[in-house]
Amino acid sequence: MISYKEKYNEYLTGFDSLLEDFCHGLNCKPEKLAKSLKYSLKSGGKRLRPVLMFAVGELLGVERKKLSNFALALELIHTYSLIHDDLPEMDNGDYRRGRLTNHKVFGTGNAVLAGDGLLNTAYSLLFGECFKGNDYVSAAKFICDCAGINGMIAGQSADLEHENDECVDESVLNFIYENKTAKLLVAAVVVPSILCGGKYYAELKTFGSVLGNLFQLTDDILDVEGTFEQLGKSTGKDKAEGKYTGVRLYGLDGSKVRADVLADKCTGILEKFDGDISFLKDLVQFVRQRIF
Ligand code: IPE
Ligand code: IPE
Ligand code: MG
Ligand code: MG
Ligand code: MG
Repeated sequence: MISYKEKYNEYLTGFDSLLEDFCHGLNCKPEKLAKSLKYSLKSGGKRLRPVLMFAVGELLGVERKKLSNFALALELIHTYSLIHDDLPEMDNGDYRRGRLTNHKVFGTGNAVLAGDGLLNTAYSLLFGECFKGNDYVSAAKFICDCAGINGMIAGQSADLEHENDECVDESVLNFIYENKTAKLLVAAVVVPSILCGGKYYAELKTFGSVLGNLFQLTDDILDVEGTFEQLGKSTGKDKAEGKYTGVRLYGLDGSKVRADVLADKCTGILEKFDGDISFLKDLVQFVRQRIF
């Protein structure tokens, strides 16, 4: 039987080869623009969102080919969100995916444009899909809404608004987690459902949301406990920047207890599905522990 790690790598290499072809065709001018787009896209990363999309697609019997451009668009949007998240006026990050952040290499102005360029290109990919039929239009719109002003952007805006707040309120934290992080994971798991007539739509929406909340809680824990070698980004930043985190609300130990509860909830949802859920169950544990 194929192991979790082998399966993850199979999805990952499948996606990376799509991305490689896509980057090969990215020949915009000036050359610096093309270079900065490729710098961030090709610097690795876990590719969690494409992997999730492919895995749910396989569970639902949706061909990977049908998902390719949606997975690419989602990873482009995620990468743009990271470039902008690292800007000096946002989280001021120096390292991402093990190397200097986009603005450290290309300058802030170019990093803003690289993020804008990735978002725009993602929309172009999504519009291209819309010619294929109504389900494709719905899937494209779903991704746009998850990324937009009632999704990731709203979460990032709240994250900034609440920097240095004295007290941490659970409803505000939930809003930040749900929007800045969970929405793109929801998009990853719901798109395959939309493309096969809505199978397990509600369950997958809840699964993506709980997994996304778990993912961000673990990210906050790792900002305290993780290492640069493990994460490829600087740690200890949330406290330095006065971020509104789970660790501030629940404490480190309390956050771990809550993360276990969220992981169990994810597994509970998966158990309602027909088919082989073993990879997704292991993936939940990966998100909990961040161990491949
Ligand atoms: C980082 O996302 C931003 C958060 C939502 C916490 P990932 O941890 O998925 O980043 P990469 O893609 O693996 O670099
Ligand atoms: C970032 O959350 C979420 C998005 C980029 C949308 P964080 O600010 O916690 O992510 P890291 O820690 O910089 O990766
Ligand atoms: Mg941030
Ligand atoms: Mg950040
Ligand atoms: Mg973080």
